[in-house]
Amino acid sequence: MSKKVIDSVDVDRLLAIAEKWGTPTYVYVEDMIRDRCRKLVNLFSGLPVSWLYAVKANDNPFLLEIISEEQLGFDTVSYEEVLLCRKLGVPAENIFYTENNMTDEEMHGAAREGVVLNFGSLGRLRSYCEQYPGSSCSVRIKPDISDGHHAKVDTGNEDSKFGIRMDLLPEAVALARQHDVSITGIHAHIGSGITEPENLLNEIDILLHAAKGVDSLKFINFGGGLPIPYRSGEEEFALDQFASLAKERLETFLEESGGGISFLFEPGRWIVGPAGVLLTRVNTVKDQGRKKFLGTDTGFNHLLRPALYDSWHEIVNISAAKTAKEEKYNVAGNICESGDILGTDRIMPETRTGDCLAILDAGAYGMTMASHYNRRALPAEILITTKGFHKVIRRRSSADETVDRFLKETGYPVDA
Ligand SMILES: Cc1ncc(COP(=O)(O)O)c(C=O)c1O
Repeated sequence: MSKKVIDSVDVDRLLAIAEKWGTPTYVYVEDMIRDRCRKLVNLFSGLPVSWLYAVKANDNPFLLEIISEEQLGFDTVSYEEVLLCRKLGVPAENIFYTENNMTDEEMHGAAREGVVLNFGSLGRLRSYCEQYPGSSCSVRIKPDISDGHHAKVDTGNEDSKFGIRMDLLPEAVALARQHDVSITGIHAHIGSGITEPENLLNEIDILLHAAKGVDSLKFINFGGGLPIPYRSGEEEFALDQFASLAKERLETFLEESGGGISFLFEPGRWIVGPAGVLLTRVNTVKDQGRKKFLGTDTGFNHLLRPALYDSWHEIVNISAAKTAKEEKYNVAGNICESGDILGTDRIMPETRTGDCLAILDAGAYGMTMASHYNRRALPAEILITTKGFHKVIRRRSSADETVDRFLKETGYPVDA
């Protein structure tokens, strides 16, 4: 399995894409996405384990189609994501909807669609039970396990806004029973980019234990969080080792409970993160005395992770000759904020205006978090297909189109 796009795609091909379709452009590799899906689907062979792809990581419909063809279902966290999957033809039973402060309209809409509803608060569970007696649902619990690549994506800790407190699970079960609602699933998600596999195993233990208090249970969903290495030299998550430790637990649970329960995981980043790069061009090379800056045609409006989480993405100059002498640079975006820095103190070959940079591991939480800040257009998206074609899966809007669409949405009257 290729580790990163740059290991599996020829640099000349990336340069050709940048030349033909311009920059900034996200490029994804279909083969890598398929390989990664297959790795997961085969991980627990013999056990009733299914995989739900976390749509929030990258919701391009062409990628969702590929992932669906690889037999994954979908983990959604908004009514809009539910609708997106439904409009793509995903059967309702393959869509799991973890609500987060949902409205009544969203609840009714999702119930109408028939997707699996997963409630993260007693209040919302109560209103569902009152309005949908005799139905079924899942509940998200908070296992008080802290993990994630950054405090902002640590969702399982004691002070997190997510999930129903563990000690309130019996209350949730009683509430459902009162309205003849079956709690068919329990779920937790402790964080994104888990740093300690042990934490995920502890979460599994906690959910398996909690399952014993829910007699109508059909599935247990352990959430997402499988990490990827962003820095060169960083170790890969030991997936096989994790799976074998998890497998022991799942097998014991099935033996003790008499079976009839299936298990789910919801990876997002692990599937698409390494399979995408963001191509950008250097517009400005600037010596500010203590720092040299490479000014690019993208920014945190297109890849928010460095600004939001101080995340590291490797940045490779794919135009420069490998033999060029090296320099230390800060790679900056074109957004009018000092915090718009994509990489600091990067040792790279001497870089010139017009060089093309590839920002690696940008397939997850890149385009889905992109915005029109500074009223800028969004990047294009290109898929390198299994057959080797370059398929435009999102075309770039021109500056004119971007501004016209904005004006239209505001309703501001502009003379034709
Ligand atoms: C409920 C839920 N499941 C799954 C995920 C996917 O996380 P990751 O991309 O780290 O696997 C997220 C992301 O935050 C999430 O909130």
